[in-house]
Amino acid sequence: MMSSSTHLIFSLLLISAATTLCPIHATDHIVGANRGWNPNINYTLWANNHTFYVGDLISFRYQKNQYNVFEVNQTGYDNCTTEGAVGNWSSGKDFIPLNDAKRYYFICGNGQCYSGMKQKGFGVLIVSFAISWLGSGWM
Ligand SMILES: *[C@@H]1O[C@H](CO)[C@@H](O)[C@H](O)[C@H]1NC(C)=O
Ligand SMILES: *[C@@H]1O[C@H](CO)[C@@H](O)[C@H](O)[C@H]1NC(C)=O
Ligand SMILES: *[C@@H]1O[C@H](CO)[C@@H](O)[C@H](O)[C@H]1NC(C)=O
Ligand SMILES: *[C@@H]1O[C@H](CO)[C@@H](O)[C@H](O)[C@H]1NC(C)=O
Ligand SMILES: *[C@@H]1O[C@H](CO)[C@@H](O)[C@H](O)[C@H]1NC(C)=O
Repeated sequence: MMSSSTHLIFSLLLISAATTLCPIHATDHIVGANRGWNPNINYTLWANNHTFYVGDLISFRYQKNQYNVFEVNQTGYDNCTTEGAVGNWSSGKDFIPLNDAKRYYFICGNGQCYSGMKQKGFGVLIVSFAISWLGSGWM
């Protein structure tokens, strides 16, 4: 059995090794690229074309007062409701940090969700990779 402090130091080393291997600068993923956050864009196509890492940002660019951004859970996403939303943004240029390895769901909260302004739960990587590595029986 390793003592827990050894374990902690080892984990920290592993994390710093992972950090060194990864790009130092967080990537800013502009949702929809030059088309921004607007109706009738297939955001699934956009998300499939990107790899998201913990610590990256995504940014929504849109006409302030016309659209907005809500982070919801899968139920909210499927039903286009903002009930129980995790967060909301409306500045027109919103930077949202992806701090957890989880699936994120974003929708527009003014009815445009039905016009495709929903960002399907894209997965965020790296930390889950490190965890599965730790959990692989290698220790
Ligand atoms: C968006 O593109 C994906 C991948 O090609 C496709 O499966 C999906 O049906 C499209 N969604 C819409 C609303 O067109
Ligand atoms: C995918 O990304 C590449 C490089 O950023 C870009 O040239 C291409 O147009 C993108 N494709 C889609 C469907 O967004
Ligand atoms: C969401 O929609 C599904 C059907 O698509 C329905 O079964 C469910 O009750 C709805 N949930 C909420 C919270 O409205
Ligand atoms: C999403 O949030 C709503 C409201 O808080 C809750 O009723 C629902 O069970 C949640 N759905 C999931 C998949 O966590
Ligand atoms: C938006 O978020 C703020 C807190 O950041 C909250 O007070 C407000 O109720 C939210 N608005 C909606 C419509 O959910």
